[in-house]
Amino acid sequence: MYSGDIASVLITEQQIDEKVAELAKQVADDYPDKGDRHDLVLVGVLKGAVMFMTDFARALPRPVQLEFMAVSSYGSATSSSGVVRILKDLDRDIAGRDVLIIEDIIDSGLTLSWLLKNLASRGPASLEVCTLLRKPDAVKVEVPVKYVGFEIPNEFVVGYGLDYAERYRDLPYIGTLNPKVYT
Ligand code: XMP
Ligand code: MG
Repeated sequence: MYSGDIASVLITEQQIDEKVAELAKQVADDYPDKGDRHDLVLVGVLKGAVMFMTDFARALPRPVQLEFMAVSSYGSATSSSGVVRILKDLDRDIAGRDVLIIEDIIDSGLTLSWLLKNLASRGPASLEVCTLLRKPDAVKVEVPVKYVGFEIPNEFVVGYGLDYAERYRDLPYIGTLNPKVYT
C-alpha cells in the first residue's frame, strides 16, 4: 500500500498497540470505574485522532463516552498559527464531567492550548490531555499534557490517522514521507 511513498517506519503497529494498552492502563488507574454512571468523556480531535481514539476507548477497562470536535487552525498545511475556528463542536455539555482530550500529535501546541482554554471555560470537573505523539517544539508552549505516547523527532509523519493531503490516514503504522511525495 502506498508503495514507495513511505521513507521509513517510525513506529510499528505492534509498538502502537503496546503503547495504547499502557496509556489505557494509566488512565484506568487514574479514573477508577466507581460504577456510578459517571462516565469519562473522551474528546477526540478530528480527523487525526480517530484511529487512536477508537483503539484507546476499546483498550480502556472503564466506561467512556465519545465526543468529537473538529477545529481548523489558520496557517499552512503543515504548521499552525494558534488562531482556531470550530468546525464541529461537542454534541453535549461537559459541565461537571471528567474530560480527557485525545490528540494525535502535538507540534507547536498552539491548537491544544486554544482547545484547553475553550473546554475549561465550559466548567468540566476535570480536564486532561492524552496525546499519542509529541514533537520537540511542544515544549515552547506551556501546555499541561498528562499522558504522552511517544516523543518523536521534528519530522512530518503520516499514518494511524495522520495525513498528508488527506492520504495515508489508513496506514496501521506511523512513518515518514518520501520527499518525492511533496514534489
Ligand atoms: P500544533 O502545532 O498546534 O498542531 O500543535 C497540531 C496539529 O498539526 C498537525 N500536524 C501534523 N499532521 N503529521 C501530520 O499529519 C505531522 O507530522 C504533523 N505535525 C503537526 C496535526 O493536524 C495536529 O493536530
Ligand atoms: Mg492534517
